Amino acid sequence: MSSARAVAVPNDLEAYWIPFTPNRAFKAAPRLIARSKGMHYYTPDGRAVLDGIAGMWCTNAGHNRDPIVAAIRAEAGELDYAPAFQFSHPKAFELASRVAALAPGDLDHVFFCNSGSEAVDTALKIALAYHNIRGEGARSRLIGRERGYHGVGFGGISVGGIVGNRKFFGTLLTGVDHLPATYNREQQAFSKGEPEWGAHLADELERIVALHDASTIAAVIVEPMAGSTGVLPPPKGYLQRLRAICDRHRILLIFDEVITGFGRLGHAFAAERYGVLPDLITFAKGVTSGSVPMGGVIVRAPIYETFMRGPEHVIELTHGYTYSAHPLACAAALATLDLYRDEGLFERARKLESIWADAAHGLKGLPNVLDIRTVGLTAGIDLASRPDAVGRRAYDAMTKAFFEENIVIRITGDTIALTPPLIVSEGEIAEIFERVGRVIRAVA
Ligand SMILES: Cc1ncc(COP(=O)(O)O)c(C=O)c1O
Repeated sequence: MSSARAVAVPNDLEAYWIPFTPNRAFKAAPRLIARSKGMHYYTPDGRAVLDGIAGMWCTNAGHNRDPIVAAIRAEAGELDYAPAFQFSHPKAFELASRVAALAPGDLDHVFFCNSGSEAVDTALKIALAYHNIRGEGARSRLIGRERGYHGVGFGGISVGGIVGNRKFFGTLLTGVDHLPATYNREQQAFSKGEPEWGAHLADELERIVALHDASTIAAVIVEPMAGSTGVLPPPKGYLQRLRAICDRHRILLIFDEVITGFGRLGHAFAAERYGVLPDLITFAKGVTSGSVPMGGVIVRAPIYETFMRGPEHVIELTHGYTYSAHPLACAAALATLDLYRDEGLFERARKLESIWADAAHGLKGLPNVLDIRTVGLTAGIDLASRPDAVGRRAYDAMTKAFFEENIVIRITGDTIALTPPLIVSEGEIAEIFERVGRVIRAVA
């Protein structure tokens, strides 16, 4: 397709309140994207921009893939909507079976929603209700982790560990505690893959259990790899230790795999990479390769079975969304899962991991680079902050990347995150890090 096709630019940027964006700075110099294909975006004036971050960690199959587009088009003409409560449609069941088949162990029941935030709230609610109906309703505490990101619902920001996302929003959920973050630059700087140091940080859960007593704790939720706070891979053995402690105290373990699901770490789920079976997995993003909003929770069989008691006409879980398992999302997801399978994209990510890591770590030694972390097809690059202007250097890097180097990168604080579509070629990997290297020099 030609990159020159022009699309009209909105002439008034005022009305739209853009999420997680400095609105005034954006509107002064808008970064607009009008079209996408494969590894690229195209600006309204037709400039090709390399996508270094798979949309926002979601377009794992690449942009506007023909089979996904065709499936969405066909479904739009076939079934616009069916009630999500008390009725359903065939593709919802087909998709649940496909997702369950990808998940390890007896993670074989799927609850659908529309985003990662909803998936997290759903998982937390299932955990609380599970203990309740087992007669252990005192298990109401939820444990998250510092530097965790679990979306923006009240549940998610309560267990989340990003101060800026919490401090404006009152008292949040009560009865929440946090594990320490797993990152320590002195011990882990410039690790490729999972760092050697830090498994013992899981033992902090024992301290939290000792403080509150296990009989009050419902669940622990962690991202296997913390993405949004800058790519923090789990220390070797850490997740295994968390699992053992949860087992010891009958605490449910939730893996938030909204980013790590669907190939990002070279497997369908990070649970498989790490050989750790959580009780619930949240997913979103990659399930439709970003093409239609969808999220969900995968639940182990004994948890689902616990709900399937009582009179059969009574709703077992009083929870759900108008658009749970929306037909368009299901059609998009089924086509996406076919693509992942037919093109072997999870295996591709696994094969490219070392090439990706070597290219990323090649930026070591550039000005202000304090650390580089890689795992799967992700990289986090910490830059030194400008004096008195935390976040400014990375913000400048993002704008220069877009306008001058024709690449989209993601930033958090002064960290650059990179996480390309899994279709990225070796040449494009080299290209991504060449451009990012030039950007890093330019903001020195
Ligand atoms: C681990 C994790 N959980 C939840 C979310 C929230 O997802 P959404 O933005 O779709 O609500 C995100 C988004 O990046 C995420 O990375």
